[in-house]
Amino acid sequence: MVKILEGFVARLTALGGGSGDSRDVYEDWAPTYERNLRQDYGYIAHRIAVAAFAERCIDQSIRILDLGCGTGLVGEELAARGFGHLDGLDISPRMLDEARGKQVYCDLLIGDMTRTIDLGGRTYGAAIGVGCFGGGHVGPEHLPEMIRCVRPGGLLVFYINAIPYEQDDYPSHFRSLEADGTWRVRLTEQSNYMQAIERPGWLVVANRT
Ligand SMILES: C[S@@+](CC[C@H](N)C(=O)[O-])C[C@H]1O[C@@H](n2cnc3c(N)ncnc32)[C@H](O)[C@@H]1O
Repeated sequence: MVKILEGFVARLTALGGGSGDSRDVYEDWAPTYERNLRQDYGYIAHRIAVAAFAERCIDQSIRILDLGCGTGLVGEELAARGFGHLDGLDISPRMLDEARGKQVYCDLLIGDMTRTIDLGGRTYGAAIGVGCFGGGHVGPEHLPEMIRCVRPGGLLVFYINAIPYEQDDYPSHFRSLEADGTWRVRLTEQSNYMQAIERPGWLVVANRT
């Protein structure tokens, strides 16, 4: 396992907070993404987020949208816990190709979460988004569009790298969204999501109101 950041992980980490376009990075990274993150860094963000999801959702037939699904690590983990109705959305066609190979998603949608998300009339009881926030990804200003993907009352579980979380003051955005009646945050909890290095992130559990 590595002890320092290198390659694609270093490139993306250098982007810090905000949002932006990382599509080309993921297009190049797609074939080696999982081997790189799991074997070299001991990536477990998908496992932390899905464990929290499964603790709060007993209905395994619920329709779930995996936001920024990438190669499908979250979908695979949800399927292993018995959740059978999963769709994924991502900006990178090559990441989606990898996800398709897992055969755990019903529909895989190409979409950009920094714009209006077109769900083609689909509605979801829950959504989960792991590792899709921060520089080169989506910013806190895009949360309302992500939250809109689930029905009122629907469960939302996010996992956010601590650098953008702190740089962009995500908690203040959470409070604004509570104040305007968009959602209710149930839990924010810090953990380390790469076992080979110190890599803190935040688990966020909420319900759309
Ligand atoms: C670090 S990966 C996480 C993938 C997966 N959730 C996981 O835990 O392995 C981030 C993913 O977000 C996607 N992404 C980045 N910006 C996006 C955007 N604006 N709209 C949709 N997906 C985006 C990338 O293509 C990539 O697949």
